[in-house]
Amino acid sequence: MTISTVGIIGAGTMGNGIAQACAVSGINVVMVDISDAAVQKGVATVAGSLDRLIKKEKITEADKSAALARIKTSTSYDDLKAAQIVIEAATENYELKLKILKQADALVAPEVIIASNTSSISITKLAAATSRADRFIGMHFFNPVPMMALVEIIRGLQTSDATHDAVKQLSERLGKSPITVKNAPGFVVNRILVPMINEAFFVLAEGLATPEDIDAGMKLGCNQPIGPLALADMIGLDVCLAVMDVYLTEFGDSKYRPCPLLKEMVAAGRLGRKTGRGVYQY
Ligand SMILES: NC(=O)c1ccc[n+]([C@@H]2O[C@H](COP(=O)([O-])OP(=O)(O)OC[C@H]3O[C@@H](n4cnc5c(N)ncnc54)[C@H](O)[C@@H]3O)[C@@H](O)[C@H]2O)c1
Repeated sequence: MTISTVGIIGAGTMGNGIAQACAVSGINVVMVDISDAAVQKGVATVAGSLDRLIKKEKITEADKSAALARIKTSTSYDDLKAAQIVIEAATENYELKLKILKQADALVAPEVIIASNTSSISITKLAAATSRADRFIGMHFFNPVPMMALVEIIRGLQTSDATHDAVKQLSERLGKSPITVKNAPGFVVNRILVPMINEAFFVLAEGLATPEDIDAGMKLGCNQPIGPLALADMIGLDVCLAVMDVYLTEFGDSKYRPCPLLKEMVAAGRLGRKTGRGVYQY
């Protein structure tokens, strides 16, 4: 099946980023959200992002116009019928995603692949809630989508080889470098990344080094572009804590216990950049 139109559910941070990646790659997009304001904001974000690429001389004004012309927006799921694949990128909430996926599943043709961009919900479980478990898959993009090369392709227990191969091809058409992952909490990247951040909080709590030195150590010694504590501030300490809690529950392994200092900082409302203070002051 040739994919000429991608349906995207959710026009937020990830949805509009995926829309941009598709549109600049010559693929038509139907982006659906719950209100006109939400879809308009999504398109405005894409336009702003394309303007920055023009300034950097990566694309031309004509490229921008062509990309924007490929993005159709709607508040009606009916418009998803034009798509050969639907990528769900709505708010991270299990009940909400179930509702959305059942709605999309009932509307689009049987051969259409449905993918979810969820960061934490089981792809196997979501697939089982649809009538097309073998044509359901995880497509985990990274933020900001237009800049980040990775797509984690997550195979649920039921995902077929044909579905996997089609999504891998699509990811490559978007200029991404996909990796294939079996469904498990955190998939691959966050499974490694978030416990590393948690360990950095243990190191800080034990007073082994200052936050600046911990971050400098990981930058200079491991070639990481940003230190783990500064990264925690960017992600949000509450998000890091929630992820560790999920691993602890799902794996039942004490190696995933969240650092008490991380819990303490979240309790104090020091959530990182978004609250002006986390490990660092902003
Ligand atoms: N932000 C990240 O760094 C990141 C990275 C990878 C994956 N994700 C995942 O991507 C998904 C979206 O995250 P986000 O950061 O873009 O969130 P966001 O809050 O920026 O956007 C979510 C959008 O979904 C819309 N929405 C809510 N209910 C809807 C419905 N019934 N139908 C259609 N749209 C609906 C909201 O109006 C909003 O515009 C989540 O599953 C998240 O876990 C996020």
